[in-house]
Amino acid sequence: MSEDFRQLRPTTAHVDLDALQGNFRALQARVGPRVRVLAAVKGDAYGHGAVAVARSLAVAGCDAFGVALVEEGAQLRDAGVDGLVLCMGGVGRHGAEEAVARNLTPVVYDEGDAERLDAAAQAAGVRLAVHLKIDTGMGRLGVPLPQWERFLDRFARYAALDLDAVMTHFAESEVEDDTYTLEQLRRFRQAVATANARGFTARIQHAANSGALLRHRGAWFDMVRPGIALYGAPPIAAPELQPVMRVTTRVLFVKDLPRGASVSYGRRWVTSRPSRIATLPVGYADGYPRALSGHAEVLVNGQRCPVVGTVCMDLCMVDVTELSEPVCSGDEVVLLGGEGPGRIDANTLAGWAGTIPYEILCGFSERIPRQHA
Ligand SMILES: Cc1ncc(COP(=O)(O)O)c(C=O)c1O
Repeated sequence: MSEDFRQLRPTTAHVDLDALQGNFRALQARVGPRVRVLAAVKGDAYGHGAVAVARSLAVAGCDAFGVALVEEGAQLRDAGVDGLVLCMGGVGRHGAEEAVARNLTPVVYDEGDAERLDAAAQAAGVRLAVHLKIDTGMGRLGVPLPQWERFLDRFARYAALDLDAVMTHFAESEVEDDTYTLEQLRRFRQAVATANARGFTARIQHAANSGALLRHRGAWFDMVRPGIALYGAPPIAAPELQPVMRVTTRVLFVKDLPRGASVSYGRRWVTSRPSRIATLPVGYADGYPRALSGHAEVLVNGQRCPVVGTVCMDLCMVDVTELSEPVCSGDEVVLLGGEGPGRIDANTLAGWAGTIPYEILCGFSERIPRQHA
């Protein structure tokens, strides 16, 4: 949202920076002082607001941040964020000069990128630290293992590039069956040994996302890269981590409907009794997924109530018939968050929507102002 946006609608994402800092410290404590914690702040810090999150984490002692895009890295530098800013998606065809100019650290896995970065670094008269990424089984970015040796031989030609780190990424580090993760680790170690044997010694190695941080001590190496755990929605129970985002709104309108009345588009829900229905000012244009239709619950004045009928673009409806106190327009509604056993966390919301907490958190749109406190 632009700076001059004036919030008139009460739908808000509250970002608890104390919880965020607490999570960072808890993760740092878990891995110990010798392992650096790089905070994944890509995707606008998983929807929490990258600049506010990075600044807050820097205060807590974090000095390494992971973004996906060069543009995201530039945004952090513009905001005065120092330290390592790792462009985890690489720099692509057009990002090399910008990465060099902003002192961003690119992840390199493509010869074209390496060539462009080398040229940009030479033109700027600097040596550029890069992290080489090996695809050990994620099948997304990274030098495929069969091409690793050839890639290293070519890499030696890039005089302006400085091999700072080798890294990889896991496909399913959070799952209980660790067979695949251990195989990825074995491949990674082997690829590192190959590099060492050819005279390439990276200063550091890193691999662990949240799942590996929480489950695989053997994957910590010199640096870990948590994202979702930092935001308090870990893939594995970790009681020391607190949810960081809470999304609230207020009841817009309340009406009584007779038995047999339909609610919302497609008439997919019909009252089975005289019902009191509250309309909320939030919908799928805000990132409250349409897939929640008929599945989700919200907290109205602290009590769970079902979302009924189809979630609309700007609105959704909740059955408040059973609440002990009458509901009024303006009453608080919690969409994500809350206290005690009724709390709605990102994993719960994701389960109702048939997705993952990452998508829920990143999905809250710009139309919902973030309030950092
Ligand atoms: C390369 C890389 N490292 C680390 C992370 C953080 O992952 P998570 O949020 O699962 O901790 C991501 C996110 O997908 C990533 O792409």
